[in-house]
Amino acid sequence: MDYSDYLKLNQLLTLQQPKSPHSEHRNENLFIITHQTYELWFKQLIIEIHHVIDSISKSEIADAINTMQRITIIMQTIVDQISIIETLKSHEFQRFRNYLGSASGFQSWQFAGIEALLGKPDNKKLQQYQCDNEIQKKLAAIIRPVSLHEVVCEQLIGAGIPGQDNKKIIKTMLESPSCESLLLNQLLDLDSLLQKWRYRHVKLVERTIGQRTGTGGSDGISYLKTTLFTPIFEELWEAL
Ligand code: HEM
Repeated sequence: MDYSDYLKLNQLLTLQQPKSPHSEHRNENLFIITHQTYELWFKQLIIEIHHVIDSISKSEIADAINTMQRITIIMQTIVDQISIIETLKSHEFQRFRNYLGSASGFQSWQFAGIEALLGKPDNKKLQQYQCDNEIQKKLAAIIRPVSLHEVVCEQLIGAGIPGQDNKKIIKTMLESPSCESLLLNQLLDLDSLLQKWRYRHVKLVERTIGQRTGTGGSDGISYLKTTLFTPIFEELWEAL
């Protein structure tokens, strides 16, 4: 087996198929590759988040910390990667936008799965796949009965025990020099990065389509702005 076989390069490199006239292919190709790269990173993020959930469930905190470090770096990469697609000018995007039809990032089931796996399912997003058995199966493989948020609350913080002041417990944990504190701080990093991604995506969309509606049928940036400042680990932020 050689490099090309192992990576299935022949298949991979034929998966970019612009729909617009040839003169627009350079820009549409950038658009496609950017989205495909995101989906690949989403795939890896899902694997890593599953691993963190399992590690915390088994109280293997050092293992969870190692995996969170990888997750944070992937997240930082996908935030930074927005800079590449930001080089696509509004008029360049308009020249091939119609060829996308109703395709939209809103339909990214891996993204919807990640939101749910972390602990903040977007029901409107998830409902769109109700009649699609294939995607339902894929989502079922992504979403776990216990989300990362739930496992952190139950296993790490011990939330839900009557008479406990969770805010005080979290604050004490965050301030103590311990592995648990390191892990909680990594979860704050993850939350910040997810929110940074949302912010950079809104600004990208604003400069690319202005006030136009989205291909997915939303109001565009006014909808996307409603998704800002929505942390997953609210308890951690409240305890600071
Ligand atoms: C020129 C570039 C882009 C434009 C103009 C754009 C536009 C939009 C718009 C208008 C929406 C709202 C839904 C709709 O009505 O379509 C949306 C949602 C979304 N886009 Fe993009 N987008 C761009 C790049 C990207 C990239 C590179 C990704 C990476 C995967 C992405 C992922 C998403 C996701 C996940 C949502 C759903 C967000 C949520 O509901 O929380 N978009 N996009």
